[in-house]
Amino acid sequence: STARFTLDPAFTIGEVNPRVFGSFVEHLGRCVYTGIFEPDHPTADKEGLRQDVLDLVRELGVTAIRYPGGNFVSGYKWEDSVGPAQDRPRRLDLAWRSTETNRFGLSEYIAFLRKIGPQAEPMMAVNLGTRGVAEALELQEYANHPSGTALSDLRVTHGDEEPFGIRLWCLGNEMDGPWQTGHKTAQEYGRLAAESARAMRQIDPGVELVVCGSSSQSMPTFAEWEATVLAETYDLVDYISLHAYYQPEDGDVDSFLASAVDMESFIENVVATADHVGARLKSKKKINLSFDEWNVWYISKWHEIENSGARDWAEAPRLLEDNYSVLDAVVFGSLLIALLRHADRVTVACLAQLVNVIAPIMTEPGGPAWRQTTFFPFAQAARHGRGRVLDVRVDSPTYETKKYGETDLLHATAVRAEDGTVTVFAVNRSRTEALPLEVALNGLDLSSVVEHTVLADADPDARNTLAEPERVLPHPAEGTALTDGTLTATLEPLSWNVVRLA
Ligand code: AHR
Repeated sequence: STARFTLDPAFTIGEVNPRVFGSFVEHLGRCVYTGIFEPDHPTADKEGLRQDVLDLVRELGVTAIRYPGGNFVSGYKWEDSVGPAQDRPRRLDLAWRSTETNRFGLSEYIAFLRKIGPQAEPMMAVNLGTRGVAEALELQEYANHPSGTALSDLRVTHGDEEPFGIRLWCLGNEMDGPWQTGHKTAQEYGRLAAESARAMRQIDPGVELVVCGSSSQSMPTFAEWEATVLAETYDLVDYISLHAYYQPEDGDVDSFLASAVDMESFIENVVATADHVGARLKSKKKINLSFDEWNVWYISKWHEIENSGARDWAEAPRLLEDNYSVLDAVVFGSLLIALLRHADRVTVACLAQLVNVIAPIMTEPGGPAWRQTTFFPFAQAARHGRGRVLDVRVDSPTYETKKYGETDLLHATAVRAEDGTVTVFAVNRSRTEALPLEVALNGLDLSSVVEHTVLADADPDARNTLAEPERVLPHPAEGTALTDGTLTATLEPLSWNVVRLA
């Protein structure tokens, strides 16, 4: 049977914040070294940045880029990462049991962002695992104060006359996780985050601060953690973070395809918890959500490596280099749809990560860079998902999943640009059946289908690899039409679709 919904500009969710198309660069595996930074690479510029990677990063359309971790940040000493490269110390990175050379640091990160272009924005995490308020303040002064103090002048001496202008700051990372160096209880972390936030606002009241929420909805402390942390920090922060990664469990592909059900309930539960704290405080302020780590991640493979003890303080080892299939890209697209469907409260989001490490872009040291299957949904959403999200309520045929029960086969959202054009993003979760779609367009001045592209393949396990970097590409769909105010299309089985209307 047919899936249906209605679009009407009178019914909207909210404006898409460009920061929703953020990403993440962590000192982890080959994300930095031989990923974005490889001085000996044939395409490297004088800063050591790979131009082939920069081109793909621009094409991907990422905005805010979170740095330097992740779990890495809980051992991060920012002072190690500045000044003459040859003087920087080599350190143990406890989070990933690797050796950190600090050859790439804060200044190189800012240079990388500036080279991407004006759409790129820094999002810097401070270490609240093994460090505290004083070091956060020192980093902020070094980075943002124009000059005339010891730390700002040190930056100038290091060759960065212009302050970095970092507005968006994360107060630590995943502090609820027992794996985090310096892991804390909600009460301990809430107090430390509050004190850090208060002090950072003494330097600059205009900073935007993200407090750590839960590492996933399944954490035993979920919700209680958010409530406790926000009770301490409500007036001092702007965002609470959410992290979520998905993979098929025990071969259950049907539940994996419905991963966005978990993501949407996670978002709604964090909104409810934050608003509950706001209500208790009789506050008019709303805390927004920073979904600053999300992706498909075959985390069980990583846990096998982790538990085997095989990692041995190597420099830039190959870690978390998941190679994504068409199936993964369809789930990934559905996660993007989930974020857009909550554009009113999710105003920052970071795809974890950017290059090589669970990433849309892969590289070979000394060799090429290429796009994974997940690159395409992200690039299309970042490009066409700008404007106001329309309220999409689908009437869809369903299927049965072990984890989430009866689930819609169609997952969709639509964004109306300032010029009145509309882009529909839609996923068909059926592994076997095409899904007929009918969309009624009310009060929208639209008369033609500009394009309908699809990511799908007869082989859902198809992937792009070093040997075959363009095995999977989006292709045009056939038969999509707009007549008498109704859009009709057929969504291929297991597909990600982008339909642009003008
Ligand atoms: O993105 C990989 C890791 O996942 C991050 O370092 C950590 O924050 C999360 O557990």
